[in-house]
Amino acid sequence: MNVLLPDRVTIIEVGPRDGLQNEANQIKTSDKISFIQALKLAGIQEMEITSFVSPKWVPQMQDASEIANHCLDDKRNFVLAPNRKGIERVKNTDVTAVALFAGVSNTFNKKNSNKETNELLNELVPIIQELKTEGYFVRACISTAFYCPYEGKINLDDTINVCRKFVDAGVDELSVADTIGMATPEEADLLFSSLLKEFPSTLLTAHFHDTRGMALANIYACLQIGISRFDTSAGGLGGCPFANGATGNVATESVVYMLERMGIETGVDLEKIMKALDHIEPHLSKPITTPHRTLYKKENKTFIK
Ligand code: HMG
Ligand code: MG
Repeated sequence: MNVLLPDRVTIIEVGPRDGLQNEANQIKTSDKISFIQALKLAGIQEMEITSFVSPKWVPQMQDASEIANHCLDDKRNFVLAPNRKGIERVKNTDVTAVALFAGVSNTFNKKNSNKETNELLNELVPIIQELKTEGYFVRACISTAFYCPYEGKINLDDTINVCRKFVDAGVDELSVADTIGMATPEEADLLFSSLLKEFPSTLLTAHFHDTRGMALANIYACLQIGISRFDTSAGGLGGCPFANGATGNVATESVVYMLERMGIETGVDLEKIMKALDHIEPHLSKPITTPHRTLYKKENKTFIK
């Protein structure tokens, strides 16, 4: 095996946030909480549990405060916030890890945050500085880092420049996203190699949507250059409601399976991820059809490792 591959990888579970934000059925808060708790029992140490966005824009996330109040523990529980109003709501909870988000392209940002890129960054930079002086862990989620559904291919330098704004403002982590699942392993290698060179002191996480089945190949490309943090979503749930063509994130179960079979530790128990999905699947508008989920159902809930 390639000696450069990491021994251990951190899985950041985004199912309760990215996964559910695009779900057509309004899920009961108690069912979301059971899902989150079951994911924690599966060994997940970092998770995006909800987002404090406008309930008019994303009704599914209207119970963010309740979710935060029920699900905080000693693990890293991220909540997303889009603006000052979201941060004020976060500060009324005991949350200690915040994720702010911006795309690289103007058109996406206008649709997702009702602001163009510079306007959005100018709003977020002072918020980050303030959160850092108050001791929060701050992650920046960078959408449309490779392709935008409205503007097409994104220039590498534009992505690096948006990342630099966040790094200069003091974020702890960049989670860099292929929002509509168009990147190839070569592109993943190029962007993440550049980010590693530009931002050697910032935690770098890859967030791949699996729209075209490229995500595992992209993760493998990232592993080879030393990236060891990946956002994944149990059941492959997910998608941004404001990015045409954005389907689910790469499935947690696929990534855990691949890594563990390669001898790379994740600390996540695949069978318990299936049990977590048992909590949420009955409430979803569609069945979960990832390869592991299909096998699990076929084998009458006996999971084949
Ligand atoms: P806006 O309409 O311009 O906001 O939306 P506004 O400031 O004009 O306020 C309008 C109303 O919303 C007001 O209420 C505000 O109080 C309220 P009214 O006076 O009409 O009753 N409001 C809020 N309420 C609660 N919490 C808030 C909040 N903000 C305003 N935080 C806004 C601007 C940013 C709010 C809106 O565009 C929004 O909420 N966008 C979020 C979109 C979203 O959630 N997208 C998905 C997450 S990002 C993603 O999935 C990508 C990622 O996975 C990476 C990848 O894959 O690319 C991270
Ligand atoms: Mg996403």
